Amino acid sequence: MIIAQISDTHITLDTPDAEQRIRDFARTIADINALDPGPDVIVHTGDIVHNGRQDEYAQAVATLAQARAPVYVLAGNRDNRANLREAFSACGYLARDSDFVAYAIDDYPVRLIALDTLSSESNKGDFCSERIRHLIDLTGVETTKPIAVFTHHPPFEVTVGPDRLHFESQDIMSGLRRALQHSGRVVAVFSGHVHRATAGHVAGIPATVMPSIATTLRKGEYPADMRRRPVYHIHRFDPVWGFATETRIVAARWDALPRENGTPAKEPRAPDYSCSRF
Ligand SMILES: [Fe+2]
Repeated sequence: MIIAQISDTHITLDTPDAEQRIRDFARTIADINALDPGPDVIVHTGDIVHNGRQDEYAQAVATLAQARAPVYVLAGNRDNRANLREAFSACGYLARDSDFVAYAIDDYPVRLIALDTLSSESNKGDFCSERIRHLIDLTGVETTKPIAVFTHHPPFEVTVGPDRLHFESQDIMSGLRRALQHSGRVVAVFSGHVHRATAGHVAGIPATVMPSIATTLRKGEYPADMRRRPVYHIHRFDPVWGFATETRIVAARWDALPRENGTPAKEPRAPDYSCSRF
């Protein structure tokens, strides 16, 4: 199974770098579409848009509609749950019986679980007792498959960059960590939020963080010729060896991608707007 992870596209319509953010997003999707073999699924780990606005989501949805693989999205701290839910509601995987954007996908050899780590108090992560119970329920429904968990905020101490903790307290992280351990079947945790690449462990579970797709917001040192080239992660699952993560740089050939619709300039194809793709 192959998972393409993207994160922190921070789509805006009225900042000086708004066009660049849209281009970064469109080029990334074009690059993923050109992979052979292509991914089974694309997961966006949040901060899809920058201000949670409906018109920003409309732009993001138009870009994701170009993806060949099914797309699933998480909420980041810059997202607005209600507007995100409305933008992606046609696809049916966002439960309507919960305030939180959390769900499981069972269509693959690995069970995918998306968590909602948003806080109403700050940009840091939160994970209340209701969400702990829901996560334990989600991990207990199916008992044969390994589980990959996706979060916006990384649930481990990040030792690069200025902030080591991205949740509101150690206690909250401990509660989430215990819930992740509960089933014994979570084999990987994939996150965003930090805007830079890093890796660690959540109580022995391997965890990675990918940089922001928005190159104007990306942290860390990159060579000059990569300054406007997005970076994303491919996670390949092997039943024996588990996940291996590859960092991919969006190819220069997508530099000529038209901004207005994200359609590759040299490899045109009919866009598929079926809802199963996001
Ligand atoms: Fe972000």
